[in-house]
Amino acid sequence: MNESQTPPKNIVLIGFMGSGKSTVGRELHHRLGYPLVDMDHVIEQRAGKPIAAIFADEGEEAFRGMESELLEELNDPAAPRRIISTGGGVIGRDRNRERPLLHTDDPVARIESLLAVREPLYRETAHLKVDTAGLNCGELATGIL
Ligand code: S3P
Repeated sequence: MNESQTPPKNIVLIGFMGSGKSTVGRELHHRLGYPLVDMDHVIEQRAGKPIAAIFADEGEEAFRGMESELLEELNDPAAPRRIISTGGGVIGRDRNRERPLLHTDDPVARIESLLAVREPLYRETAHLKVDTAGLNCGELATGIL
């Protein structure tokens, strides 16, 4: 089997906030038994505070630094297969300078502007795209598997 035929080691879930990465990650974890790493959760544990507090106290760049550092750690070829649920902004560190939390007068406009930047990055980065419309979590996990 040459390298291009080797199946990817980890299942890394990327996508916009609220698209269901954590929920589907849990479903895949139950079905496959691979350990589940929820990156936001690990960052919160390490920082000892919620993400919103990290943003408020230390700023987005500090959060993005923690995120990149964790991603590097997770990219360990010696580690067992894992399911990795990322935060929605993980694909755009150098482009996304805006505070992404939707605490704004016009959250729909914020979502639209974030999506305009991120959608092409999600498309470029993903090996597999699943149209989630109308699917429940079990059906989504089946689609990914
Ligand atoms: C973010 C998404 C969040 C979290 C942080 C930033 C973003 O994760 O990492 O608030 O920039 O889209 P979820 O996608 O799990 O909500």
